[in-house]
Amino acid sequence: MKSNHPAEKGHRPRPGIRVLPAEVPARPPRIAVLGAGGFIGSHLVPALAARRDLPIEAVDLNFDKLAPCPSHVKLVKASIREPGLLDEITRRNDVVISLTALCNPALYNTRPLDVIDASYTDIVPLVRLCAERKRWLIHLSTCEVYGRRALTADGRRMAKMDEDETALFLGPVHRERWTYAAAKQLLERVIWAYGQHHGLKFTVVRPFNVIGPRMDFIPGVDGEGTPRVLAAFMHALLARQDLVLVDGGRQRRSFLYVDEFIDALLRIVDRPAACQGQILNLGNDQNDASIRTLARAVVTAFRAQRPDGPTPRLRTQSAADFYGAGYDDSTVRIPAMTKAIRLLDWRPTIRLAEMLPPIVADYLARYESRILGDGRRALAASGGPCSP
Ligand code: UGA
Repeated sequence: MKSNHPAEKGHRPRPGIRVLPAEVPARPPRIAVLGAGGFIGSHLVPALAARRDLPIEAVDLNFDKLAPCPSHVKLVKASIREPGLLDEITRRNDVVISLTALCNPALYNTRPLDVIDASYTDIVPLVRLCAERKRWLIHLSTCEVYGRRALTADGRRMAKMDEDETALFLGPVHRERWTYAAAKQLLERVIWAYGQHHGLKFTVVRPFNVIGPRMDFIPGVDGEGTPRVLAAFMHALLARQDLVLVDGGRQRRSFLYVDEFIDALLRIVDRPAACQGQILNLGNDQNDASIRTLARAVVTAFRAQRPDGPTPRLRTQSAADFYGAGYDDSTVRIPAMTKAIRLLDWRPTIRLAEMLPPIVADYLARYESRILGDGRRALAASGGPCSP
């Protein structure tokens, strides 16, 4: 993968945006990562460990996605619900990066209470402990808090979702899709209130559709159910099934490559004075695309690496049939970038078509041999390849 460090790419901040420099800490902070074995954690922990030889505590129940780590990374196999765990973590570390959540839309209307607990109830004690002990909480929230579309407080449309200007516009309560967004939003408000009234040092990050290797799971291999869209499309391609476009795939997302996201998180860690007390979008406004466009691009990248297979097909399905009752959707989500550029001197540049080949290569390497049997069975059952 080519370097994506802005300095090495001739990156220049946009005119008119005053960029803040990196800070030099009195001593490097001790860092804990909660949810270290997930998609983001499996990229973040090696990146943190490569830069510093201070102890890093990596907490999760499963580390299958994490490559072998150097000895200064301590793996703590535990749930954040384990009694005393958060107490110990906040005693030993200066910075806690919290990544844990159930962030898969297929769960929001099927396991809403688990989603609320994982995104809110389980994290409130961490917020309280970080405030009491003066630890810096870097919490990963979500672009979902913006809801269905970008609106100003008085209801006018906005082109982009802005951290400090955009209202948060969720659907009605019976649309259980918004349980996750509502839980994440309430947690942001709790964090904000602890910051305002109890001195909590915090940074809230709102990631916008970060994609990359090791995202989610492949159903039937290392998980069950419906993963997020990129993994769902990769599963369809590997199993030689149709790619499903929910409601025709007109919804739009702005995709950010995981390496660039990790670069931004490292820049946050390096800039406590600039980033504490801030809510920050991390996304790429240049990669706004419809889900149909994403599907076509994934198919192109897949066919380039497996030219001899059958031609994949796209198929439309209603959201109600795909996700069940209570699903709802965001129509378009484009991040305002000004704050991230100013605070982090960070501007992602990797375009969707560039990021897909390495992602496809990773999925092929990890899953192809394990899924091929299923694919062949599916082909036999359907009477042949799903090409036109
Ligand atoms: C999800 C999570 O809810 C967020 O927490 C998270 O921040 C966000 O992903 C993200 O990755 O940043 P969403 O983008 O709606 O939000 O989830 P995806 O599963 O990636 O779906 C994107 C779109 O693709 C949705 O419109 C969905 O209906 C559609 N989709 C999904 C399909 O058309 N086909 C599929 O097979 C799966």
